[in-house]
Amino acid sequence: TKEGYDHFMLKEIYQQPEAVRNTLNRRLDENGEVYLEGVHLTKEMIESFNKIYIVACGTAYHAGLIGKSVLEKALKITVIADVASEFRYNDNLIDEQTLVIVVSQSGETADTLASLREAKAKGARILSITNVVGSAVARESDDLLYTWAGPEIAVASTKAYTTQLIAFYMLALYFGKLKGSLDAHSYKEHVIELQSIDDSIEDTISQSMEIAKEIAEEIKEAPSLFYLGRGLDYYTALEASLKLKELSYIHAEAFAAGELKHGTIALIEEGTPVITLATQDDIYEKTVSNIKSVKARGAYAIGITTHKHKDMEQVCDKVIYINTTTSTYMPLISVILTQLIAYYTSIAKGNDVDKPRNLAKSVTVE
Ligand code: M6R
Repeated sequence: TKEGYDHFMLKEIYQQPEAVRNTLNRRLDENGEVYLEGVHLTKEMIESFNKIYIVACGTAYHAGLIGKSVLEKALKITVIADVASEFRYNDNLIDEQTLVIVVSQSGETADTLASLREAKAKGARILSITNVVGSAVARESDDLLYTWAGPEIAVASTKAYTTQLIAFYMLALYFGKLKGSLDAHSYKEHVIELQSIDDSIEDTISQSMEIAKEIAEEIKEAPSLFYLGRGLDYYTALEASLKLKELSYIHAEAFAAGELKHGTIALIEEGTPVITLATQDDIYEKTVSNIKSVKARGAYAIGITTHKHKDMEQVCDKVIYINTTTSTYMPLISVILTQLIAYYTSIAKGNDVDKPRNLAKSVTVE
């Protein structure tokens, strides 16, 4: 049941702190050590991999992009994220030295499952991140990491995504430690950071409600809209625009902020809403210069950043400040606001929030 919430999606947005807590706590012992029950990879096996593929569809793929970034950093090996409908038909260079990580909330998505089988047949080791216990993906994998999000009913994925991110962060810590590529100090700092992320998500939900409604009113008539970001913010932008598209039916695209000038900036007109995520400190200035260039072409610029970047107000029409954690974990915070923007825009347009047109919860056709 919706338990008093207007929609399953809103209920699931509110369940995120708990879902994240569950996914995390069942894998951290009292000393803050990560243990992953269903993952049987040894130090030798991890050392033997020369690359990792992450394969998934839609929102799970977007989680995989963040996973790529954190795993690459922790393991110092090449990690490639691909959409399952492409991966399965490509001549990927896969063998026994490849780890393939499959991500699927339902564990039943046709292209994802076919990719898993394809990679397995070529000798790859398969680790899956899934939310449904006993699903096809779970049954056919060598190693398994369940997200403890609980049932996700709304077609638009929310808590499955945030718990998939947690799964990747934990994998990066676990593998990094086992391999010795992550030092003990950073390991500890990451664990401490992760342990308070649920509270930060909770605060973000309550702090974002009003501003998300306001943005929804501003963008609801827009024929098209852009989400921009660099690095992890770009991956969040992809997820933010997918969520907005599927719920509001507004044409929304995400772009790597620095790529705009290679063509896309031609689409910016007077009043085009451009929402930029600028939460990654090391590339903040670069992102600001991209905002300036869309603003100069008439965009209605909305910036999403952390409190220390007050100078955003000089370049944007509107700035939304969100909670701060280290750059690595900002995707868990910023995505919450974008989920709420999509949710309220759908309501503002009178759409069916939990069952958007043309979509199914589980895509078991190719
Ligand atoms: O069950 P899966 O995680 O394999 O589903 C993958 C996609 O179909 C799914 O994430 C889809 O993109 C969502 N509707 C997005 O909100």
